[in-house]
Amino acid sequence: MSSARIVRSARDSLVLRPDIEDEDEPEDPHLGLGSRGGRPRARPPKAMRRQDRILLFLEKISVSFDGFKALNDLTLYIRQGELRCVIGPNGAGKTTIMDIITGKTRPDSGSAWFTRDLNLLENDEVAIAQAGIGRKFQKPSVFENLTVFQNLELALAGSKSVWRTFRARLEAGEIEFIDEILGRIALRDERGRQTGLLSHGQKQWLEIGMILAQRPKLLLLDEPVAGMAPAEIDRTVELLRDLEGAHSIMVVEHDMEFVRAIARETVTVLHQGAVLAEGSMDFVQKHPAVIEAYLGEALC
Ligand SMILES: Nc1ncnc2c1ncn2[C@@H]1O[C@H](COP(=O)(O)OP(=O)(O)O)[C@@H](O)[C@H]1O
Ligand SMILES: [Mg+2]
Repeated sequence: MSSARIVRSARDSLVLRPDIEDEDEPEDPHLGLGSRGGRPRARPPKAMRRQDRILLFLEKISVSFDGFKALNDLTLYIRQGELRCVIGPNGAGKTTIMDIITGKTRPDSGSAWFTRDLNLLENDEVAIAQAGIGRKFQKPSVFENLTVFQNLELALAGSKSVWRTFRARLEAGEIEFIDEILGRIALRDERGRQTGLLSHGQKQWLEIGMILAQRPKLLLLDEPVAGMAPAEIDRTVELLRDLEGAHSIMVVEHDMEFVRAIARETVTVLHQGAVLAEGSMDFVQKHPAVIEAYLGEALC
């Protein structure tokens, strides 16, 4: 049976989309009825029902800026607990993927879901963050005048005001949680230190810690080792290995050596806004198209 339903597109116009029949599961009475005024809602992609373990679903995403296609029909799935590396030359569209996932940029077409419940194209940045997607931008954004501990305390408080946060006493469980994060990000000895005095690498770890304080299901890390000293890069490899499994992580990187150190499963190579190759690090590094795309760039 073919049918169609009207759904709201990323650009907030109503479009007609084919209705996907689902033979595997009984009809969910809540699906198809949006909470806002009962308007029709797009349904989660079928693949996510079949394979429960997919956490992030991006399908046929395209976006143009002034006629330039930054993403071109991009499809990418990330499973629960997976550490996915996305590599690619400068300008390949890596950061743009994160902008789409977090609601910062709306695609021209395609679909994007986070779990079965959250249509990323129908939610704003705040709702997406609250649903469990934490993002680390390239430049660390920490409060330099506060101590390391205070930064984590603030992140833990989330939406509470700064004033309320510092007036309220932390519960024992919260102190324990912050302590656990400090251990993970190798900053236990620096807990009382003013953040502005930390090294660049330490600030990057603190920011990762601040995201962890919000207990994300998915962490998006954009070039986490850019500008780091070699010893700091090694420590970051350890940190990511430690987080793997407990969180789903998408690491966008330009540094192939770093990617080789952390990638145990799938690496996605992006080129001109599309997936050029996907597979193990060995597979993609030997792929002729990947070598060509990286021509002139350092390929280890
Ligand atoms: N908001 C934007 N406005 C205009 N152009 C953009 C915007 N975001 C990205 N681009 C362009 O899209 C392309 C991909 O950018 P980006 O995703 O930042 O690449 P990467 O992170 O892989 O280096 C680049 O050519 C960039 O200039
Ligand atoms: Mg980038």
